[in-house]
Amino acid sequence: EENNKCVIVIFGATGDLAKRKLFPSIYNLYKKGSLSENFAIVGAARREWSDNTFRENVATSIQDSKINVDADLDDFLKHFHYLSFDVTNTSSYQNLHELINELDEQFNIPGNRIFYMAMAPQFFGTIASYLKSNEVTTTIGWSRLIIEKPFGHNLESAQKLNIDLREAFAEDEIYRIDHYLGKEMVQNIEVIRFANAIFEPLWNNRYISNIQVTSSESLGVEDRGGYYDHAGALRDMVQNHMLQMVALLAMEPPNRLTTEEVRTEKIKALRALRPMKSEDVDRYFVRGQYGRGMVNGKEVNGYREESNVDPNSATETFVAGKLLIDNFRWAGVPFYIRTGKRMTEKSTKIVIEFKELPMNLYYKSKDEMHPNLLIIHIQQDEGLSIVLNGKKVALSGETTPVKLDYCSSCQDVLNTPEAYEKLLYDCILGDATNFTHWDEVSLSWSFVDTISKVWENSIPTDFPNYEAQSMGPKISDKLLADDGFHWWPIS
Ligand code: BG6
Repeated sequence: EENNKCVIVIFGATGDLAKRKLFPSIYNLYKKGSLSENFAIVGAARREWSDNTFRENVATSIQDSKINVDADLDDFLKHFHYLSFDVTNTSSYQNLHELINELDEQFNIPGNRIFYMAMAPQFFGTIASYLKSNEVTTTIGWSRLIIEKPFGHNLESAQKLNIDLREAFAEDEIYRIDHYLGKEMVQNIEVIRFANAIFEPLWNNRYISNIQVTSSESLGVEDRGGYYDHAGALRDMVQNHMLQMVALLAMEPPNRLTTEEVRTEKIKALRALRPMKSEDVDRYFVRGQYGRGMVNGKEVNGYREESNVDPNSATETFVAGKLLIDNFRWAGVPFYIRTGKRMTEKSTKIVIEFKELPMNLYYKSKDEMHPNLLIIHIQQDEGLSIVLNGKKVALSGETTPVKLDYCSSCQDVLNTPEAYEKLLYDCILGDATNFTHWDEVSLSWSFVDTISKVWENSIPTDFPNYEAQSMGPKISDKLLADDGFHWWPIS
């Protein structure tokens, strides 16, 4: 197969993402034989490194990851080359061009190349236009761009970035990463919905009362204060990961499993998202910021005390919201989302709550009613639970909730591939299904922009409003309570 033979250029090769995710993923693909011997990696970054220093760093990153390192590491490392790179200097691009040509020859690669932008976002546009003007993207093979988040800071900056990128790459050559789309159980949403006769017919407003998507983190902002304080949870998590999960839960069945068909359905779902009106933001969205608290018996900093964070920061580290989707399938069904730092645990879960039956013969009192739930465990465990009602083992005719659990990661722990591994491989194969189309990015930004504008113009007076190790501010419960619902526990 000629098609997976390629040169991958990583801009930002000395950075954290390359070290933690990309090198281990590339190694895994190599070990599994998904990469032929005909590939080469060019690490480009500002530092003056030799190929050897680069290779040592790649080796360390692989050894530090959980992967089993086999003897073939040395052979693997021969595919890695380093280029000291100045993103605004033409000669850097000429050097890159020459190096790629040499590697094409050395590894017998038919001119296929991936440009992976894993560095400070302010240079994404610059790099793309230099690549184009120095003809690095002009090749007899294919040329693709993988671009990390953040894709802009709001709709306007995202549009500008997109225009810059489109000068050098066509839409179908641009692979916008949302690493949630590489998660095993996020990819499984589609299968659970469309491959099961016991769910597909019920997946609508006649049978579902509400859907809850929670992505909580126990860590604080760590060493990313500089970035995060200008972003906040809404931009950092809601604009991308949360809305992507909502789109997968809400979309219509695609005609076929092609990139075009799947993304078209997701785009349609996002188009049906009811736009926020400024005056409604306070009713539909809640923001929070963590204060101090105890984690594992140790006192931890509040957000405003973290490094590189403004001591009066009004940035939200927690968001909860209620989304409505105005189409035939979903009219009247709230989708609740919440995400935040310094919450009780690291967990991403989706709860689908089904409506009550019109009459239940077994209810003795209101308290005993338990709606059916389908719970999709995205992380840390991967799997599914279904909550049904069964008979209580007793003489009385009472019912009791019965929980059926399936943990897929427990069966296959070692083999669950990392999100990045799958996404990188998809890009090598030219499959953009699990990357975000520009229309998805722009629709998500326009939804989120209204909320950020309102928030920017009204500084919260109650920050910090939740303690570390909690499920966020109490007011987020009210969002659901007003509709007669409550958040289902995440563990
Ligand atoms: C990133 C955010 O996109 O996703 C981080 O920038 C967040 O702030 C991370 O911690 C969460 O990803 P995961 O895979 O750990 O749930």
